[in-house]
Amino acid sequence: MKFKASHICACLMAGFAALAPSYTLAHGDVTPQAVDTRSLPPLGEEMRSENPYRGLAEAIKVGVSAYTQNCARCHGIEAVSGGMSPDLRELDEECLGQKDEAKKTACFKEVDTYFMTTTLNGRVRNGAVYMPPYKGVFNQEAIWAMKAYLETRRTAP
Ligand code: HEC
Repeated sequence: MKFKASHICACLMAGFAALAPSYTLAHGDVTPQAVDTRSLPPLGEEMRSENPYRGLAEAIKVGVSAYTQNCARCHGIEAVSGGMSPDLRELDEECLGQKDEAKKTACFKEVDTYFMTTTLNGRVRNGAVYMPPYKGVFNQEAIWAMKAYLETRRTAP
C-alpha cells in the first residue's frame, strides 16, 4: 500500500513536470526570456522617448511573443488583466480621447516614456518587488516592440 501511494505521487510529479511551462507562467520568479530583435530596424544606444515602431507589423509580431513570455503571467494573456496587475490595454486610453492633435501626440509620447521607464526599472517599494526591473535584460528594441503590440490591444476606439 505504501509503495503504491508513493507510486501515485511520482505520477503526479511527472504530470506537474509536463505542465511546468504553463505552471511557472503564473507563479514565482521566472527567468526572463530573451527577445530576438534582429528582424527590427536597430535603434542604437540612445534611448528614444517615443515608440519608433508604432504600427510596424514586424515589431507587433516580435512584441506578441516578448509580451506573452515575459509579462503575461502578471498582466494577463493578450493583455487582459486578471486584476492583480494593471491592465496594459488602458495605458493610452486618456490620449485617445484627446481632440487636439498636438495634445494627443504629446500624450502618446508621455505614455511611451512612462512605459519605457516602468519596464526598465520595474516596481520595487519597501523592498517588495511588485514587478521586476528589465534594465540590462531587454534592449529598447524589445521594449518598444512590446509597446507596439500593446497598442493593438487597446480597449477604447
Ligand atoms: C511579477 C509580476 C509582473 C511582471 C512579470 C510584469 N509586471 Fe508590470 N506591473 C506589475 C505590477 C504589480 C504593477 C503595478 C505595480 C505598482 O503597484 O506600482 C505593474 C506595472 C506595470 C506598468 C505600469 C502600469 C500603469 O498603469 O501604471 C507597466 C507599463 C508595466 N507593468 C509593464 C510591464 C511589462 C512590459 C512587462 C514585461 C516585460 C511587465 N510589466 C512584467 C507586475 C508585473
